Amino acid sequence: MEIRAVAVIGLGTMGAGIAEVLARGGLQVTAIEADPGALARGMASLDASLGRAVARGKLTSTEQAEILGRVRPAAGIAAAAAADLAIEAVPERLDVKLSVLGELDRGCRADAILATNTSSLSVTSIAAGTRHPGRVVGLHFFNPAPVMRLVEVITTVLTGPGAGDAVTGLVRRLGKIPVTVTDRAGFVANALLLPYLNHAVTLLETGYATREDIDTAARAGIGLPMGPLALLDLIGLDTSLSILEILGGELGGPRYRPAPLLRRLAGAGLTGRKSGRGFYDYRAGQPAPAGGQETIHNAATGASPGPVTLISGGAGDTAELAALIGPASPVAAGRTDGLVIVAASDTGAGVLPAAMLAGRPADTVGLHLAAGGRLAELITTRLSSPAAVEAAMTFARGLGRDVVRCPDRPGFLAGALLYPHLGDAVRMVQDGYASAADIDAAMTLGCGYPRGPLRMLDDIGAGRVLAGLTAMHSRYGDPAFAPPPLLAEHAEAGIAFCL
Ligand code: 3HC
Repeated sequence: MEIRAVAVIGLGTMGAGIAEVLARGGLQVTAIEADPGALARGMASLDASLGRAVARGKLTSTEQAEILGRVRPAAGIAAAAAADLAIEAVPERLDVKLSVLGELDRGCRADAILATNTSSLSVTSIAAGTRHPGRVVGLHFFNPAPVMRLVEVITTVLTGPGAGDAVTGLVRRLGKIPVTVTDRAGFVANALLLPYLNHAVTLLETGYATREDIDTAARAGIGLPMGPLALLDLIGLDTSLSILEILGGELGGPRYRPAPLLRRLAGAGLTGRKSGRGFYDYRAGQPAPAGGQETIHNAATGASPGPVTLISGGAGDTAELAALIGPASPVAAGRTDGLVIVAASDTGAGVLPAAMLAGRPADTVGLHLAAGGRLAELITTRLSSPAAVEAAMTFARGLGRDVVRCPDRPGFLAGALLYPHLGDAVRMVQDGYASAADIDAAMTLGCGYPRGPLRMLDDIGAGRVLAGLTAMHSRYGDPAFAPPPLLAEHAEAGIAFCL
């Protein structure tokens, strides 16, 4: 069956984006939203998105009008009666989804396909609640739907012949890439993404690093298109919380336990971009600090760092810093003044032992130049003095990298975000959840990663990731950081995850 007319039910962030993608693809779209205010907001956001494309010269205003002309807003599900395909994008609650699917089941043509855009609920359970489960599939778009290329297509044991092929063909016609995934909680991308985002909230909540530093570390240190807190604001804190609860309920384990701060913000209605505030404040257009967070270390002080002595942190690679500072010495070379910088390794023993050995711990901080050339991590120990930290900040800023500050703990900041994320990716491969290729495709096409996590892991080296995770695990004793056996096996055998 060729799909020509589609009904989208629910015109929130995802529904409006999906409606835009379909209308841009030349399909007739019925945009259904029961709440008149939400319908108006959804249509306005679709119009604004098309307006941005016109402003960027990607569409003409005539095309914008044509695309909008293909979208018919409607208040009730009865308007889906003539659709070839109905896609629900209502809130992520099984009872709500089941009720909408039930109405569609009764109101749509017998040969219409019904799709759920659930991000983590069981498509099988949703299908089983209908009278004709054979025509129910999952179609999981990513936010922003007009931009992200991946669509996860989920068929179940109940899906009849034809429905999966028809929606896969449609996804291709829309210029997206369909990837068929198994009906497991979070499918592939969300099952991997959400624990990483949740961990970033914990780092913020526990005062490990500031909001800006966490996001900077992910962008400049890992190379991701957005920081995790900004991404949570984009996805929606309420949606993210629901996904984590569903993942936790099905899979268990500490990585899915929602950080209390996420729950509090979502509960307070600070759901991110869609409400104007989340981790950042969008009410004035540009994200601005939401208040209460210290950003002093991002402000230039202009203070001179004075003389700087470099010491080796054991496993730390001193070459790049030595080129900037001068050769490393085992102790502070007899100097009693100025700053002492430990060339630190994010998988090693940390900065404090070297600082103690140098005999001047108050004057000592660590510096870690993350691979890729864009991030410098400034590591403070429990004994680093405020003056030394300030002088080190001035020095680090002079390196022309983005500078973040973090405590003397394994992984520092970028590694603390990345190593558990890569560990989760390996665990998914190990447990037969998805192949390395599917995981990498999901994260590059669905979340804009420049390289998939398994490719990243191969580039960093399994041994190094193992060392990072092992250090985190032994420091915190948290099972969330336990290295998966498959990672140790790859490190030992010296083999890659990707071909
Ligand atoms: N709607 C429509 N188009 C948008 C958009 C939006 N909300 N935001 C950005 N765009 C378009 C821009 O118009 C621009 O288009 P052009 O190249 O044709 O001119 C393009 O995207 C790039 O935008 P910008 O230059 O303004 O900004 P960036 O280069 O910083 O890219 C981004 C923005 C595409 C959002 C990028 O930061 C990114 O890829 N972030 C990761 C997003 C992600 O991970 N999404 C998945 C989340 S998980 C999910 O959705 C699953 C769900 O179940 C929770």
